[in-house]
Amino acid sequence: MELVVATRNKDKLREIKELLKGLSVKVFSLESFKGVPEVIEDGKTLENNAIKKAVQVSKFLKKFVISDDSGLEVEYLNGDPGVYSARFSGKGATYKSNNEKLLRLLEGTALSKRKACFRCAIAVADKGRVIGIAEGRCCGKIGFESKGDNGFGYDPVFIPDGFKKTFAQMNAFQKNKISHRSIALKKAKNIILNYLLLYR
Ligand code: IMP
Repeated sequence: MELVVATRNKDKLREIKELLKGLSVKVFSLESFKGVPEVIEDGKTLENNAIKKAVQVSKFLKKFVISDDSGLEVEYLNGDPGVYSARFSGKGATYKSNNEKLLRLLEGTALSKRKACFRCAIAVADKGRVIGIAEGRCCGKIGFESKGDNGFGYDPVFIPDGFKKTFAQMNAFQKNKISHRSIALKKAKNIILNYLLLYR
């Protein structure tokens, strides 16, 4: 059984591959295929974008596909950057410039007002048809400075509830135990297993 992860983001792919261990599927990313059209992520929600990616890619490749759309929602910023997390600091945004912008916007804000949640939407599609969608959430606070070198994206500024260190100060095993992505993927695994049992 082959499963394509509709992403070119190596960081996401690394985490997803790790989290899919135990499921007897061979995992590919978009890098394994030529000519897959770029999907415009213009949905208003993570779920819309995840579904759009999974459907378009699985229709094109005629394969079983999952896609991940994720982002960070900061309460003080009314849920921003949310669906715009990847391009928060504009054209040419990097993980570093996004984190710098976030810390700047929260400057002078007390820890109690720095609540934030990572959210992840995973869509599962087969040959252009949506099979299911799963959501995961991990809440915590935005720290006062970037800390740690592991992970990616906003990991250096995100301190999950119940911990004193950022995601980027945790190892992959620790992050994967509690992350939004691991919660969504656990649900997505059940969707995949049920589908395989019933329809394939
Ligand atoms: P997209 O899902 O490709 O639209 O982009 C998601 C963006 O959200 C990434 O580029 C990261 O900046 C951020 N993000 C998503 N998941 C994580 C995570 O697990 N850690 C840190 N940042 C994340």
